[in-house]
Amino acid sequence: MSEKTFYVTTPIYYPSDRLHIGHAYTTVAADTLAKFKEMQDYDTMFLTGSDEHGQKIERKASEAGKKPGEYVDEIVATFKDLWKRLGVDYDYFIRTTNPDHEKVVQEIFKKIYEKGDIYKGKYEGWYCTPCETFWTERQLEGEKVCPDCGRPVEWVEEESYFFKLSKYADRLLEHIKKHPEFIQPESRRKEMINFIESGLEDLSVSRTTFDWGIPVPIDDDHVIYVWFDALSNYISAIGYLSDDKKFNHYWPADVHIVGKDILRFHTIIWPIILMALDLPLPKKVFGHGWLLTETGKMSKSKGNVVDPNKLIDDFGVDPIRYYLLREVAFGQDGTYSTEALIKRINSDLANDLGNLLHRTVTMVDKYFDGVIPEPGVEKEVDKDLKNYALKTLDEIDNSMDNLKYAVALESLWNFIRRSNKYIDQTTPWILARDEDKKDRLGTVLYNLIEALRIIAGMLKPFLVETPYMIGEQINARDLIEKASWSDLKQWGLLSPGRKVKKGKPIYPRIDIEEYFERLNNNENKETSDNKGKGGNDMAEQDKNTGTISFNDFTKLDLRVAEVKEAEKIEGSNKLLKLKVSLGDEERQVVAGIAKHYNPEELVGKKVILVANLEPATIFGVKSEGMVLAASNDSGELTLTTVEKDISSGSQVK
Ligand code: MSP
Repeated sequence: MSEKTFYVTTPIYYPSDRLHIGHAYTTVAADTLAKFKEMQDYDTMFLTGSDEHGQKIERKASEAGKKPGEYVDEIVATFKDLWKRLGVDYDYFIRTTNPDHEKVVQEIFKKIYEKGDIYKGKYEGWYCTPCETFWTERQLEGEKVCPDCGRPVEWVEEESYFFKLSKYADRLLEHIKKHPEFIQPESRRKEMINFIESGLEDLSVSRTTFDWGIPVPIDDDHVIYVWFDALSNYISAIGYLSDDKKFNHYWPADVHIVGKDILRFHTIIWPIILMALDLPLPKKVFGHGWLLTETGKMSKSKGNVVDPNKLIDDFGVDPIRYYLLREVAFGQDGTYSTEALIKRINSDLANDLGNLLHRTVTMVDKYFDGVIPEPGVEKEVDKDLKNYALKTLDEIDNSMDNLKYAVALESLWNFIRRSNKYIDQTTPWILARDEDKKDRLGTVLYNLIEALRIIAGMLKPFLVETPYMIGEQINARDLIEKASWSDLKQWGLLSPGRKVKKGKPIYPRIDIEEYFERLNNNENKETSDNKGKGGNDMAEQDKNTGTISFNDFTKLDLRVAEVKEAEKIEGSNKLLKLKVSLGDEERQVVAGIAKHYNPEELVGKKVILVANLEPATIFGVKSEGMVLAASNDSGELTLTTVEKDISSGSQVK
């Protein structure tokens, strides 16, 4: 085992639903940090897993008509599947239903009980089952909803074991104040200090009204509170009370990465459990912000959950990883948008990185028959490029120590852009015209290949396929695979003479409008397929004649609508946003007619609107209906309108 260790964790996720992009955000961040430390020769331990007990899971399982064990098994399989697809390379996946973990949790409970820090009492208060959190009357401030998630709380009155949080409050406060790095980012640290200073009450750590949990070792009628069980995963997973050598090797953790909503559990309850066990506290707990959507925090009930599997299907794994790490400053909230994702792919991956690779390999292919040339005499501009590489490595190092992923990637991309600039400065296509300048041309192209090898190496913690796609084309996959961070500081590691393998651009540009058009068509198709399966609420085509019944036709609500306003949608050259009037009602619709009509000429026109089409968001703009138009194979298009004037809102049948 290496001397230097690095232990990083994600929260363990509730298997109550499939994971969304917000969960992927945390896990990809932790995975990147682990990969980075590994490249720096740390003996790294990266832990993730699933938090499988508690009332919430028990209820979800029963709603699904399943036994809890069977229910969680199915969902946990989807977690592992997603991590695999995202290239997340954890060292251990802990499941809290694992008997080894259960045993350790019982022993922890017993130790603290025997020490006198857990005692029996009666809990009377409020409980939020989705968050598995107890709330006092004072904390609810008169409302009967959870201050965290806004859902109704339930009154709980039951015998319970209590954990003496109050006893440790001063010690914890002192620790937090003495170790500014313990809670990060700074703003969240202040929040936690205020919370503790406002007074800690002892915590109920057992429940009696359901069974899906680890039994309290000294009392069969109780199960251990799910957060007490879950937090213990961070030490049970590395051998606490079962493998001292391993435990002492990795503990204390270097960083627990968690979302801001669960920072309180990690910076109050968890450290106090550790203090009661006489164990050192983790070095850092980092509370990152949320990834929101335009309609707020993702939740199944709001229907705004972004499915990472779908994004991987559409864009591939690395664009998703890149976007998650690059777009939002870790620590702050950010809004997910597919448009922003596509823009990142086009500008950063296709344009900056893809072009650098493609231009370089093409030139080696053209001017040296694909053979990487020997470098010759070095000029100032070459030295500058090399120094830029060294500077970038240092910058990334500093940023990663502070979990500033976006800043690290910004530095990396500055180097990519610097390398593109090097091409413009050295003008290889002009050097190639003159046989006397062949040496100089060789030096320039060798340097570009080296820059690409180093870029691919620097990318390794962040992206999982791209480094090797670059490696294939510059024929240095072997070097990139085994590259440590210090290898990247050695300019000239790649020996000339290897033959490049020119390939297609690694990231073709994505046409945003085409993507949304395709998505929209598929979504409409999917909805109709689904409804079709459901049976009778959708027009079903007769399989033999291709006709629909008159009854099905009458389900369409076609209306005459007058265009009141029309404008272009920013960033799109196909779409227009229309405000139309149906007489007593105004609607906003998105129409793909910008190439055929100027906005001004549409105002006042009476068109036909499918008024009962399911609303959709296209290019971030809500569309409530569809205007009808005729088009042919030559790309001509004309709106359908009414032959004589008739009032807006009239039905078309
Ligand atoms: N089971 C507990 C954690 C126990 S750790 C000892 C739990 N699970 S969870 O599945 O509800 O959430 C896990 C993590 O996902 C939390 O850190 C939470 O902040 C994070 N996220 C959930 N939705 C998120 C976003 N929309 N954006 C970013 N992170 C999000 O809490």
